Amino acid sequence: MNAHRDTALFSPLAIPTPDGSGLTLRNRTILSPMCQYTVEQHDGVATDWHLQHYGAMAAGGFGMLTVESTGVDPVGRISPCDLGLYTDAQQAAHQRLVSFIHSQGAAAAVQLNHAGGRASGNPWLAGSHGGSAPVEEGGWPTVGMTDRSIAKGYRATTKLDRAGIEAIVQDFADAARRANAAGYDAIQIHAAHGYLLHQSLSPLTNTRDDEYGGSEERRFRLTREVVDAVRGAWPDSKPLGIRISATDWVDGGLDVEATARLVRNLVADHGIAWVDVSSGGLVNTPLQPAGPGFHASLGVAIKRALAGTDAVVSVVGGISSPEQAETMLRTGQVDAVSIGRAAMRDPHWPASAAARLGVPREDNPAAPQYWRAQW
Ligand SMILES: Cc1cc2nc3c(=O)[nH]c(=O)nc-3n(C[C@H](O)[C@H](O)[C@H](O)COP(=O)(O)O)c2cc1C
Repeated sequence: MNAHRDTALFSPLAIPTPDGSGLTLRNRTILSPMCQYTVEQHDGVATDWHLQHYGAMAAGGFGMLTVESTGVDPVGRISPCDLGLYTDAQQAAHQRLVSFIHSQGAAAAVQLNHAGGRASGNPWLAGSHGGSAPVEEGGWPTVGMTDRSIAKGYRATTKLDRAGIEAIVQDFADAARRANAAGYDAIQIHAAHGYLLHQSLSPLTNTRDDEYGGSEERRFRLTREVVDAVRGAWPDSKPLGIRISATDWVDGGLDVEATARLVRNLVADHGIAWVDVSSGGLVNTPLQPAGPGFHASLGVAIKRALAGTDAVVSVVGGISSPEQAETMLRTGQVDAVSIGRAAMRDPHWPASAAARLGVPREDNPAAPQYWRAQW
């Protein structure tokens, strides 16, 4: 394990597990999940593109890679071109990715998702929430917490009844079993960015008045049930994480205090060991920030909310400077950084960052084939 204890960024990180063994990452750089919308066959099976994409990032030194949003069932995929984890062929393709990621010394996590009313989106436009794909282009009828459209351009959903909700909870558990069979080290449940769990958490989109809506307690219920089901299907030797939108950036929406209550409960009583902090995605708002490290203050707030627990907190958003990442970790703002677009620009971002921070070549996490690149 190429760790370097003189830096915070390249020191190892242990994510707790129920059996006490913990998952140790070689460093604190985590690849943020990023949909590639590249399953041209619409069958949810990873392609050679995914292998080269994640392969380059693993060879580039990440401590852990979070494989993109992966549908727990066909209806829950963000777009027809998304990965899935509900068939044997999909599982085998994930296994191929994981196997290569492991061969490079990185850990592998998969982000499990149900997109609810934002499912069946236009690939390429889906990331910018560009509306529903027409059925003749591979789209499908969607389900959600209500019978309304989630946003402009999206078809109205069929409101999930109790049986429908139970089936989705079961789909998450089944996908977790497949993730284990494929060799994944960690799961990240997607409860952010306007997808089904976020739709159920936020008062802006959850207008139900049954046991899944109304009070905060009831709005949090579906997420708790999914976490419990996944934790129950996932080995005690492996950690479970969640990505949250810490705020909706809208009055009357989720705010950081509510999210802090949610994650405290998930960590204390439901086995969540890793919280990845993002924001927004439910409604478009000019308040949403940008710029270097734009979620840093939210990361600090969630880390503070989890003080006294051993849960690991990572934050995503505009992190591209190694010095900034190092400072965030050194000052205890968060435990790890999630890197998104900076890794698309430079798949070897960790190797470059290590060199910049003065990590000697023998401790650089890059693949040895690339050492002569002399970062
Ligand atoms: C092409 C692309 C695809 C993305 N797909 C996902 C995804 O599958 N799941 C997710 O939680 N976030 C997704 N995101 C958001 C990123 O993970 C990340 O949170 C965001 O880009 C901000 O971090 P950055 O400034 O480091 O890029 C995506 C972003 C991009 C640019």
